[in-house]
Amino acid sequence: SYNGLALTPPMGFNDWQHYRCDITEQTILSNATALVTTGLARHGYNYVNVDDCWMASQRDADGVLQANPATFPHGIGWLAGQVHRLGLKFGIYQDGGYRTCGGFPGMYGHIQQDADTFASWGVDFLKLDYCNQPTDQYPGDSPAQVAKIVYAEVSRALLSTHRPIVFSESAPAYFCCTGPNFTDIMSWVGDTGNLWRFGDDIQPSWSSILTNYREDNTPGLAAHAGPGRWNDADMLLAGTAGTTPTEQQSQFSLWAELASPLLLSADLGSLSPQTIAMLSNQDVLAVDQDPLGAQGTIVHSDADADVLAKPLANGDAAIALFNKSATARNISTSAGNAGGYRLTDLWSHQTTETTGTISADVPAHGVALYRVHRSKASWPPPSVAIVPDVSGTRVTIG
Ligand code: GLA
Ligand code: GLA
Repeated sequence: SYNGLALTPPMGFNDWQHYRCDITEQTILSNATALVTTGLARHGYNYVNVDDCWMASQRDADGVLQANPATFPHGIGWLAGQVHRLGLKFGIYQDGGYRTCGGFPGMYGHIQQDADTFASWGVDFLKLDYCNQPTDQYPGDSPAQVAKIVYAEVSRALLSTHRPIVFSESAPAYFCCTGPNFTDIMSWVGDTGNLWRFGDDIQPSWSSILTNYREDNTPGLAAHAGPGRWNDADMLLAGTAGTTPTEQQSQFSLWAELASPLLLSADLGSLSPQTIAMLSNQDVLAVDQDPLGAQGTIVHSDADADVLAKPLANGDAAIALFNKSATARNISTSAGNAGGYRLTDLWSHQTTETTGTISADVPAHGVALYRVHRSKASWPPPSVAIVPDVSGTRVTIG
């Protein structure tokens, strides 16, 4: 990690998916309060991130960013202070180009000034979007090279404030997910930031979950993940309309398997007890937050099902059986022949012994998630990025 931060994937809240531009300081504060009252903060959801549309349409006479006086009348420094008093961290949104995606003043031309402003406000997390790119300023350079100039400068400006600020970069998302610009950008994002959006904006639908899941499994992407450097598959849909509880649990399971940041975007004050319990599943959170920081990868795939494996720091592995299809199926995978091992179902919490087969009846659009307990000495060694014994995986669809 270039700044020593975010050694496990960031967790918390971002308003965008649920609220879009319909936000006020009260929206942010009520969700921050709900993180505490639901107990989610205790489980690690501790960033409260304000997305686009918090700004006034103009900078002030000195060029300093201003909050929208109608919706954030007390200002961002005050709001950050309120969030800190709840024991939480505070995040803000800006854009590396001329204007944000919502049309508000961008950071380009004001990079050090805005970094200093954010630090003075007590900002702990910056999401830097990349609409309205300043490519016309660098006629000889590729779009990826321009992105590097901008993001590296912001990265240095944040470091120079001496305030610990997690840096979330959106540049790769504008070039997703193949081609020279994408490859170029992916080669440096982990050196300048802590997490990065690589793909589409999440929308409240199953097809959107599938799109971002597929993009996150772009060949080569997983190799970029590690402590302090994360592929961000975008916000969780838990607690919102448009997807079923099963689909929301699947997204949460898959995002944990993929070591994605876990940023909620919902009216957290009205989450059901079931949704709160799901998001508080410590066994699943431990997969996401595993200190090894490996991103799970697909070890077998066909039209209906994927099997993913994620090596964990203590030598265990997390195995996900993902039923992509619209009917319930039995999915089974053979995890090698090295003798018996213990298996914990991370949703039912049942532990079983098996000699090699992991199988489950998985509902439509469902995910079964297991921790395979192995001794550190035998399998897999923590340095191995992809669980070796599962490469011969078979998936039988019944
Ligand atoms: C882009 C980003 C979203 C959100 C909006 C705000 O679309 O990808 O996550 O920040 O801008 O305008
Ligand atoms: C659209 C969105 C942007 C960004 C890109 C990524 O343009 O509006 O915010 O997510 O897609 O390709």
